[in-house]
Amino acid sequence: MSILSERRRGGEQVTQGAQSLTLSDLVKTYSARGREEFRAVKGLNLAIEPGELIALLGPSGCGKTTTLRMIAGLETVTSGSIRIGDTEVSQMPAAQRRVGVGFESYALYPPMSVRENLLYGLKARKVPDAAAKVDAIAERLEMTDMMDLRPAGLSSGQKQRVALARALVRNPPVLLLDEPLSHLDASARQRVRRELKVLQREFGYTTIVVTHDQVEALSLADRLAVMDGGVVQQFGTPDEVFDDPSNLFVAQFVGEPAITVLPGVARHRDGRVVVEIGSGGGALATTVESVADGTAVTVGIRPQDATVRAADETQGTGVPAAATSGVSATVAYFEHLLEFGLATATVPGREEGIVVATPPEQTWSAEDRVVVDAPAERVYLFDASSGERLR
Ligand SMILES: Nc1ncnc2c1ncn2[C@@H]1O[C@H](COP(=O)(O)OP(=O)(O)O)[C@@H](O)[C@H]1O
Ligand SMILES: [Mg+2]
Repeated sequence: MSILSERRRGGEQVTQGAQSLTLSDLVKTYSARGREEFRAVKGLNLAIEPGELIALLGPSGCGKTTTLRMIAGLETVTSGSIRIGDTEVSQMPAAQRRVGVGFESYALYPPMSVRENLLYGLKARKVPDAAAKVDAIAERLEMTDMMDLRPAGLSSGQKQRVALARALVRNPPVLLLDEPLSHLDASARQRVRRELKVLQREFGYTTIVVTHDQVEALSLADRLAVMDGGVVQQFGTPDEVFDDPSNLFVAQFVGEPAITVLPGVARHRDGRVVVEIGSGGGALATTVESVADGTAVTVGIRPQDATVRAADETQGTGVPAAATSGVSATVAYFEHLLEFGLATATVPGREEGIVVATPPEQTWSAEDRVVVDAPAERVYLFDASSGERLR
């Protein structure tokens, strides 16, 4: 049984499960005297299931921290709604929202040790077995050796773990973490990330983790909310976001190595849409239906989806016959990595290369003449001006 369902309040047993968190048309406009208004969050919608772990992923300045601060009650809401379960909380004082926050900037009390800092809030609320709870969390976040230190003596990575522990010991129904692992070194980051996920599963907090690191987001989250320009661009499982990006921004922000993006022209050929890339005459088949013959589009091909094969020199130029899929290209360079290789191939008339992740047994050399291809359903087309996905 989770600790959540045994919470005590005022000595009474209060049964409660995880709570949903629903943001509707959330807007934040910053205004300072003598300065222009700035809309940091522009109508954000997000419906998070009880107990779900969401990663809010987006570039610096896209409004992630502002969104968390509004949920926590540390920032006023310009308009829109925030509901925890069925309760509208957007006008409630922070202390009443029962939202746990792990913000790096959240002050620790300097004269108190780490242990005292962690115990402080629990004692004030007369939480039973506070010391044991603090010790248990400290053990799991690998911070037993820092419990007697004062905040001034901590590294930024240690401070970050204290902030995380402080949010976790309060055992909140909703937990908000802003870049919780950014200052940890690589190996500690992996371990703490794993422990964070285990704790989240065990306790069932509905959790938002803000990050600009896609690996962190993909490994932690049940679903990703990819954010840019103050709005959610796509909300889905890691697979949905990777396999079926809703626009060019999402396609480029998620995925490592990054998706290849280049201009192309859609053609109707034998009742299908193909896309010409470069001036070499080849084209890639697509499953796109809603684009007129001759439309200039933006093409996206993930390195993991692209393939490369030797050009058939017996066919004159090596350009594939019109009915088949593939564009002729020349290998510009080839990198041998551990589990796969990366071939970068250029097509006539275009400078940027198409990046292809190749199987470990393949080796290519610069100047090799090749045909680049990809499964039709993995050749993404985007509107050349708006970046919206064409389907
Ligand atoms: N208190 C503030 N006053 C004015 N502008 C702010 C304030 N806080 C943040 N901003 C601006 O709002 C935008 C979003 O900021 P923030 O939510 O911190 O982004 P993120 O966490 O995604 O990096 C940024 O352009 C930032 O400069
Ligand atoms: Mg931020």
